[in-house]
Amino acid sequence: MDAISVIRTKRDRGELTDEQIDWVIDAYTRGEVADEQMSALAMAILLNGMDRREIARWTAAMIASGERMDFSSLSRPTADKHSTGGVGDKITLPLAPLVAACGAAVPQLSGRGLGHTGGTLDKLESIPGWRALLSNEEMLSVLDGVGAVICAAGDGLAPADKKLYALRDVTGTVEAIPLIASSIMSKKIAEGTGSLVLDVKVGSGAFMKTVEDARELASTMVGLGTDSGVKTVALLTDMSTPLGLTAGNALEVRESVEVLAGGGPADVVELTIALAREMLEAAGIRDADPAKALADGSAMDVWRRMISAQGGDPDAALPVAREQHVVKAPSSGVLTRLDAYDVGVAAWRLGAGRARKEDPVQAGAGVEMHAKPGDRVTEGQPLLTLHTDTPDRFDYALQSLEGSFDIGSGGDFTATPVVLER
Ligand code: URA
Repeated sequence: MDAISVIRTKRDRGELTDEQIDWVIDAYTRGEVADEQMSALAMAILLNGMDRREIARWTAAMIASGERMDFSSLSRPTADKHSTGGVGDKITLPLAPLVAACGAAVPQLSGRGLGHTGGTLDKLESIPGWRALLSNEEMLSVLDGVGAVICAAGDGLAPADKKLYALRDVTGTVEAIPLIASSIMSKKIAEGTGSLVLDVKVGSGAFMKTVEDARELASTMVGLGTDSGVKTVALLTDMSTPLGLTAGNALEVRESVEVLAGGGPADVVELTIALAREMLEAAGIRDADPAKALADGSAMDVWRRMISAQGGDPDAALPVAREQHVVKAPSSGVLTRLDAYDVGVAAWRLGAGRARKEDPVQAGAGVEMHAKPGDRVTEGQPLLTLHTDTPDRFDYALQSLEGSFDIGSGGDFTATPVVLER
């Protein structure tokens, strides 16, 4: 077998055989297939697609490139959630402790942000002392003792994906549905969760800009999970505007704690409860009420124990950026649009995200929103507050916000639902 013949097969719109797929993933993980050859293959896949059999085999080969975790020693059923990424998407933070408070074990292997989308680990690292890197034994011990753990995936889990994802990121090949589906599902199946709820984001701030593409991605992932014995469900949810009122690391932790305290923005609460219901149902837990667990403090209790178990201080003051800049409403009326992508880029430019994987992030940086689409605003009132430690970034962030919102009479405004489809 050789890489050139595999590339030629896909370049010429052929189907890759099982043997070709197994060989190319294994040889790439071992360094025998070069990055430039894998980039050519990834581009051929992006342009010419893969059928269900090829995607399933590609996913299985990526799982086989590393270890598989085993949660069978736990007394509770496991339930995990994966979001395809968005702006202000802090849902994992309140959701994991909430679902644990309702009786499931939540092994939440999470990632860092790249580009305009935020990452759960970057957010939690703004809590003084909190550690994302746990050994498999530590992860299992927190999961067993607390019921929820949020940590980085270990190097042993789907190493082929780790290598391939980094390559796709710099070769314009992230947005291929077969590659996204196999990347996400290889990690989730190798992780060993019994059930999985996928939050597939749709809109300007998401990878999938249209409902049709999101549906295809969702049904591909649900098929992969189901065929591997993982009870898998997907919701398509709106990402045309940011979730909640904050985009940035410490800013989003603060908002998540508000949700755990029984408050917080309505859209964040709604999506957290909707996903919690799906996770509990998928895990076979039917007698719990997530809304009650938010209101009575039991989810907050799990959050505090989860943060402490990973070295964090749940009572510590969160970092605040040194400088603020307020964007005021230019006119009075109804805010009819606030674009997720533009706000995500602004938060990223202010220092909340990174341009390259190895860049540091600023814990306090980001965008705070003072109104959501549908809210009435008055000329001169604060609309957005930009936060950063490096004020020379304000101009660059403000450029991305030009044309990012509309204020009108509101006569033709219709609110987009948070959950679009199941
Ligand atoms: N998240 C992943 O883990 N992989 C992708 O390919 C895209 C988003």
